[in-house]
Amino acid sequence: MTLHEASSSVPELGVAMIGSGLMAKSHTMGYRNVESVYGSTPLRPRFEILADAGDELARNGATSLGYARWTTDWREAVGDPAVDVVDIVTPNFLHKEIAMAAIAAGKHVYCEKPLALSAADAQEMYQAAEAAGVKTLVGFNYLRNPAIAEARRLVAEGVLGDLWTFQGRFVLDACSDPDVPFTWRFERKRAGTGALGDLGAHVVSLAQVLVGPIASVVGLSRTFIPTRPEPTGVFGYGSGADLEAARHPVENDDATTFLMEFASGATGHIEASRVATGRTWHQSIELIGSRGALQFVQQDIHTLRLYVTGDPVERKGYKEVELGPAHGDYGAFWPFAGVPLGVHELKTIEVNELLHAIAEDRPADGDFEAGWRVSQVLDAVEQSATERRWVDVS
Ligand SMILES: NC(=O)c1ccc[n+]([C@@H]2O[C@H](COP(=O)([O-])OP(=O)(O)OC[C@H]3O[C@@H](n4cnc5c(N)ncnc54)[C@H](O)[C@@H]3O)[C@@H](O)[C@H]2O)c1
Repeated sequence: MTLHEASSSVPELGVAMIGSGLMAKSHTMGYRNVESVYGSTPLRPRFEILADAGDELARNGATSLGYARWTTDWREAVGDPAVDVVDIVTPNFLHKEIAMAAIAAGKHVYCEKPLALSAADAQEMYQAAEAAGVKTLVGFNYLRNPAIAEARRLVAEGVLGDLWTFQGRFVLDACSDPDVPFTWRFERKRAGTGALGDLGAHVVSLAQVLVGPIASVVGLSRTFIPTRPEPTGVFGYGSGADLEAARHPVENDDATTFLMEFASGATGHIEASRVATGRTWHQSIELIGSRGALQFVQQDIHTLRLYVTGDPVERKGYKEVELGPAHGDYGAFWPFAGVPLGVHELKTIEVNELLHAIAEDRPADGDFEAGWRVSQVLDAVEQSATERRWVDVS
């Protein structure tokens, strides 16, 4: 028996991860998985630097996620010559400053959603990246779903006819308990909007790729739990609550719902809530056209429900399309249909898009321009809810 060396020469891509929370883990899994899942990669990620706000966070993040070096100053990571792509998985208020510095240093940028705290900031980021000629991508991972790839194909081929209405919900009850502590997500200057930017942004991205530009909106927002306890311990999801101290006022929406008019004349409705008691985690869309309709529930990730007009009346009804290798990138994971993929696998598909966009010197599907267009809608909804009137998206 002879052991042979398995080698392939693939150009490398130095990655700097800014933040070490949940999304840092998901993005890192994506970089690690692309080559194994797809069988090849145009660029092989090299895990250079992880930055976080304190020594312990940065050191632990680098060690557990497998980055060669760590720092508490993200600027060091951005400026490092071994870094080719800056991956921003920090709270929202840091996205713009880090992205602008990375773009100025000529680095590609992969940034979580919402892209920025305002559409004006998102536009600056998009335009700076365009001018610098670097590639960008925003973390709208639900766009990568094989079900959404199939829905896009059905729309493009006219199977649903003219599109009439879109409905989408992203609602969960993670914050229904009033003693969930006041972390960055509840703070206006660090998060921007609440449920709208955190959850609604994903549904807006789905509405835009399926139906097209959103022209005007009218929204209603509520903060049902007006105060929360101060946080204790670590940053983010692991934080505890100090139930003895004075409670902190919540600064953004717990739930937002809005009507929208698409540029095409289609109509729609989106609901986002972080206090949807009993809905542990629910994301769904429904799209109705003149000749057909579809429904997709993210938790039933292996099934797309499709209705096409024309069946005899005794067989009329929705059919369940089992997602499989014929849909989107599903076949990279499983050779047969019906196996549920997970959200981290959607991130792998997203990272694959980033690597190909960089290697092929083309814009990524879901780049900063797309992130800016989502932010325009979020701004219009917020303004509409504040002023209690319809607002044009601009
Ligand atoms: N695409 C998705 O499905 C999805 C899901 C969750 C979160 N997100 C987005 O990802 C981003 C991060 O969210 P998360 O859930 O990972 O949050 P998190 O709270 O788990 O992690 C944020 C990380 O940023 C670090 N950080 C804070 N200040 C920093 C600084 N100055 N320098 C470097 N690091 C700093 C924190 O210490 C923490 O490690 C947010 O923009 C959020 O909206 C996206």
